Amino acid sequence: MSNSASHIVVLTGAGVSAESGLGTFRDKGGLWTKYDLAEVATPEGFAADPAKVHGFYNARRANALEAEANAAHAALARLEAAGALIVTQNVDDLHERAGAENVIHMHGQLMRAFCVACDTRFDAPREMGVDDPCPACGSGPTRPDIVWFGEMPYHMERIIDALEACELFVAIGTSGEVYPAAGFVEEARRTGAETLEINMEATGGRFDRRIIGPASQVVPLWVDEVLGA
Ligand code: APR
Ligand code: ZN
Repeated sequence: MSNSASHIVVLTGAGVSAESGLGTFRDKGGLWTKYDLAEVATPEGFAADPAKVHGFYNARRANALEAEANAAHAALARLEAAGALIVTQNVDDLHERAGAENVIHMHGQLMRAFCVACDTRFDAPREMGVDDPCPACGSGPTRPDIVWFGEMPYHMERIIDALEACELFVAIGTSGEVYPAAGFVEEARRTGAETLEINMEATGGRFDRRIIGPASQVVPLWVDEVLGA
């Protein structure tokens, strides 16, 4: 009989997909050590050079399509099935490919796109281009449905409500450098939840407990502990 996990909110970051071969951002060799985020992850960058931005996300979309979900994604899908909520900063679809069904993508999704002219949302083609016509209004431009720096993350009210109601908040594979996600641990503490960090190293966040190790190894063990497997 698995224990309910409905009191748990999990926040994942790039570290949960690192062992699937998808780059993190701030580790050695991370994406932001190779690209200038101002050029490829801001509305200003898109306005200045949309072809460069499409090229960046087309490459990340191709990587994500070739990647496989790892044991951490699979364990978290089991935890969601037992009632936990998964909030992710990641834009890949590996949580879904491991079976998770109600993931909150606060930074958007590589596999989605929208039209700047009419705001219609649609599944992104493998390759997006500057002159792609919007499938709804025929004009555009269309862009990846990714929350860029300076834009408002999605589903914040739902996330804050969940943080206030949870009894355990778990941050997995995130450096805690980017707000508002980096502030979720303080929000959880404020409402009396226990806090756990699972990472390769301790970050600056104030967590009650830490599990140090690669997510694909330590997350399944932690989920088994929670579900009483
Ligand atoms: N297992 C567990 N943790 C790992 C692993 C692993 N195999 N590999 C790396 N990590 C940890 C690193 O120690 C680091 O703390 O994952 C974290 C990755 O941090 P970042 O690269 O900063 O990624 P993230 O926290 O998700 O970035 C947040 O920043 O650029 C924006 O929108 C982007 O969503 C992203 C946000
Ligand atoms: Zn349109």
